[in-house]
Amino acid sequence: MPETEPEAPATPTAPTRITVAGERPYDVVIGQHLLDQLPGLLGERVRRVLVIHPGALTASAEAVQEDLRAQGFEVFLAEVPEAEEAKSAQVAAFLWGVLGQADFTRTDAIVGLGGGSTTDLAGFVAATWLRGIRVVQVPTTLLAMVDAAVGGKTGINTAEGKNLVGAFHPPAGVLCDLAALESLPVHDRTAGLAEVVKTGFIADERILELVEQDPAALTAAVMTDAGRATLRELVERSVAVKARVVGEDLREADLREILNYGHTLGHAIEQVERFAWRHGAAVSVGMVFAAELARLAGRLDDAVADRHRTVLESLGLPTTYRGDRWERLLTAMRRDKKSRGDLLRFVVLEGIGRPSRLEGPDPALLAAAYAEVSREAPSGTAISL
Ligand code: GLY
Repeated sequence: MPETEPEAPATPTAPTRITVAGERPYDVVIGQHLLDQLPGLLGERVRRVLVIHPGALTASAEAVQEDLRAQGFEVFLAEVPEAEEAKSAQVAAFLWGVLGQADFTRTDAIVGLGGGSTTDLAGFVAATWLRGIRVVQVPTTLLAMVDAAVGGKTGINTAEGKNLVGAFHPPAGVLCDLAALESLPVHDRTAGLAEVVKTGFIADERILELVEQDPAALTAAVMTDAGRATLRELVERSVAVKARVVGEDLREADLREILNYGHTLGHAIEQVERFAWRHGAAVSVGMVFAAELARLAGRLDDAVADRHRTVLESLGLPTTYRGDRWERLLTAMRRDKKSRGDLLRFVVLEGIGRPSRLEGPDPALLAAAYAEVSREAPSGTAISL
């Protein structure tokens, strides 16, 4: 895959813009204190804006409201539950009601302010209102910045599973304000780093080198200027990879599937743990499993497989899971919407930046790979819970 380096900012503090190609190209803007960029991303025709946010971000939502009102927009706020609780048909129906009461038309817009659950929900409501209105995503977690808010996957959960109802609806723009990351619990940042490391393994080795240089600087409660600069470069590089992939394959016909590296087992762990594990922690174990699978299948060398453990553990991410859960994990993986019929399908690596697929692996191979990540002690590390 050709490398697209993020366009360097004109000055060290200027925002970086990365364009995502597609039917309607859009920019991901990365920097510090970016509220003044929001009207430009909303566009000239928008009059009314609904800001969807969790309760913990009420003050930020009010700041957005004040700023947009000063620019002449009519602004409404809608508070939604935290995390996965937000992604329900009931919450979506509540938001459709708000849009209806406020007479939102096709030229009005939604802003999704929050983590990945909020941006998934906001995107879904924008995709479905009047068959699609503009949404600008303002992710406030690392995971949402480098993954959920970019790429146009939107959705809600049903009683039967995660993201079973949704739509591809690319945003009109994404605003990644890195200042937001410093007020979050360190565990949230660490969990987001799992997706950053994933991006390194599938497409950009420089990401791995940057993490390896000083992992403690990325997970420090109080970040140094050097840590901030590295984190910014990691976000820029991760977004650049995601932009390239989704620009080429919005609907996951083929290439986009590589973004699911580590997710087949990761999603299964999340399900078995009833979502008590953070997504990034589950994906961390999932990547080590996928690396072992590739190594045992003779497709990946020992050094790259071992590098998975070293880099993830250096960030404090888990790399093992309970040995007594294998049958339940297998059942969950078979139910995964990315499986083909009963055939299990994994993204695996043949080297760094060389993703490939492994379909219908021998059950003995699967069990042997799981033996490499399993442990007997009850689950539960600080990051997982
Ligand atoms: N989170 C994987 C994707 O956006 O395709």
